Amino acid sequence: MRPAANRGGSRDAEGCRLEKNRHMKTLRLLVDANDPESRASRQSIRRAAEILRTGGTVAFPTETVYGLGANALNAAAVGKIFAAKERPAWDPLIVHIGEAKKVREVVAELPENARRLMDVFWPGPLTLLLPKSAEVPHIVTAGLPRVGVRMPAHPVALALLRAAEVAVAAPSANTFGRTSPTRADHVAEDLDGRIDAIVDGGETTHGVESTVVGVGAKGCVIYRPGVISLEQIRAVCVGEVTARGNGDEAEEQPGGAASPGMSLRHYAPRARLVLIDGDGEEQKAAFGEAARECEEAGEALGLMLPDAFQTAVIGRRARVFRWGNWMDEEELAQRMFAGLRWLDAGGATAIVCPVPPGRGIAVAIRDRLRKAARR
Ligand code: TXA
Ligand code: MG
Repeated sequence: MRPAANRGGSRDAEGCRLEKNRHMKTLRLLVDANDPESRASRQSIRRAAEILRTGGTVAFPTETVYGLGANALNAAAVGKIFAAKERPAWDPLIVHIGEAKKVREVVAELPENARRLMDVFWPGPLTLLLPKSAEVPHIVTAGLPRVGVRMPAHPVALALLRAAEVAVAAPSANTFGRTSPTRADHVAEDLDGRIDAIVDGGETTHGVESTVVGVGAKGCVIYRPGVISLEQIRAVCVGEVTARGNGDEAEEQPGGAASPGMSLRHYAPRARLVLIDGDGEEQKAAFGEAARECEEAGEALGLMLPDAFQTAVIGRRARVFRWGNWMDEEELAQRMFAGLRWLDAGGATAIVCPVPPGRGIAVAIRDRLRKAARR
């Protein structure tokens, strides 16, 4: 591994670009996720819903990450999402609904596998790709014949979607290509002054995005690994379930045109991300070695440090994010994006991060880390 030189120059240039176009007043609307029915919470939800109904943009918490929403059936409103995020027009958006029966408004058909998956996993972190209805504007699906749709489980997201009474297109609420937001402050870092409002409902539950599944009559294809695992989907679907374009298999089988946003650099911190694969003592030793090399090369070192890896980096000068229990992949997922953002904010130029082996949500963690580390 050869650490790269400090990239301070390009960081500054990018910072300047992102500071431009922050010319709106972004409202901050507080909602207590544990008490979305309180008077203050209901007031915030009502205000946010009104903004969505009248064609504005609102960031809100879901159980995965914060989303940036707009009325999915209003092409001009959806256009504001692309502008605020600087998202290319070829990358389609997921449509969020507050009631399962609303799926009929946005899809043209509902195959048996879709019904099965909805029954088991909705509301929840599962996005289904289904033939779009004529009502869904082309801007939402980037001209593709299928629309991504999901019913989130987060109480604040559900309250907002129900109050808004419209389907809401919402990508993650970050600048395109950057680390996804799991707190309202993360959203503000990227989008303050560019969107109408942020509903602040605290930290998100899972910390990585929904599983994206293309649903067909003969089987299903997982385009993005997420909170719901391949094994869970296999247990419910009829026919074959295959995975494509995830961090483990991407190089052999890129997501390709079927799901455009998934094969690129994504979720990326500003710092260079140095990933350490393997397992057991060997992985710990490699982690310590990479940290030493970065420090010797004069990098401002940031560490994603699981408890089990502490002894490997004793004596290193580094900004350290205590990632959590290496055996608890749910916790690692929940804290991953927050950790990358925190190390970035502290000025790290290189972040050394071990990659969790294992199945289930670990597959989603690896997918995000590998895409974040691409150059
Ligand atoms: O958990 C999540 O899914 C979060 C929360 C906010 O719901 N949303 C999210 O959206 O992660 P986004 O835009 O950051 O990632 C969605 C990905 C896109 O990159 C795109 O490639 C894929 O899902 N996608 C969306 N609609 C699609 C479609 N019609 N066909 C193929 N792929 C689609
Ligand atoms: Mg995203």
